Amino acid sequence: MPEKAVLVVSFGTSHLDTLEKTIVPIEGDIAAALPDRTLRRAFTSGMILRKLERRDGLHIDNVPQALERLAGEGVRDVTVQPTHIMNGEEYDKLLAQAEPFRGQFGRLAIGRPLLSTEEDYRETAQALLEVLPERESGTALLFMGHGTEHFANSAYCQLEYLLHDLGRTDVLVGTVEGYPGFGEALRRLAERPEVRRMVLYPLMVVAGDHAKNDLAGPEPDSWRSQLEAKGYEVSCVLSGLGEYPGIRRVFVRHALEAAEDGAK
Ligand code: CO
Repeated sequence: MPEKAVLVVSFGTSHLDTLEKTIVPIEGDIAAALPDRTLRRAFTSGMILRKLERRDGLHIDNVPQALERLAGEGVRDVTVQPTHIMNGEEYDKLLAQAEPFRGQFGRLAIGRPLLSTEEDYRETAQALLEVLPERESGTALLFMGHGTEHFANSAYCQLEYLLHDLGRTDVLVGTVEGYPGFGEALRRLAERPEVRRMVLYPLMVVAGDHAKNDLAGPEPDSWRSQLEAKGYEVSCVLSGLGEYPGIRRVFVRHALEAAEDGAK
């Protein structure tokens, strides 16, 4: 019977190809860093959990189910590590869902999402620079974040600002649902008439619906199509952040910090 567990919590995805390339390696790296803990998975998106169950007959626990199961197995010490990017709605939901289980474990520690401290932003920016092409005149790189009404949305601007401070003013960040949106990205591009080529990337852990459709899809309203219509030469790199080893290192460090001091 396992004494200790690490529960890796993701928003989730119904795209099994990106699941294998992003969430699975994050879970694997965290499990390897915490070899005395049994690894478990949970997703926070009810919509995705229902879709996987209905379409694939695949059951994945939500957070309360996973914690209930661990408590029932007699696990006493649980580290929960989210793969969320920001301290936003999904992370708040995770904290709220985990709280009632606190009394059922000797220790329940919850790690931070990707972007919390300044160190996190620096490591994340470095992780991106490890995989981005060198700066090239006439080319700009545009990341698509999700965006949220939650105040954590300011994370996108902070990350872009830091990338610019690191000398990469050719990298822009826009979001699907928050600020800065695609319109702001277009306006800032218009200030750079020398830019003719764009490389688009998802700024999301998985490269699912938003990446495949809203970013790179063939419909006229995708970012790719809209930029092409404006005359840019566009290419898309459909890798979720979970595919980047440097990003996984940040999640691993957060899991280790939570496992070690049991904070929160
Ligand atoms: Co969405």
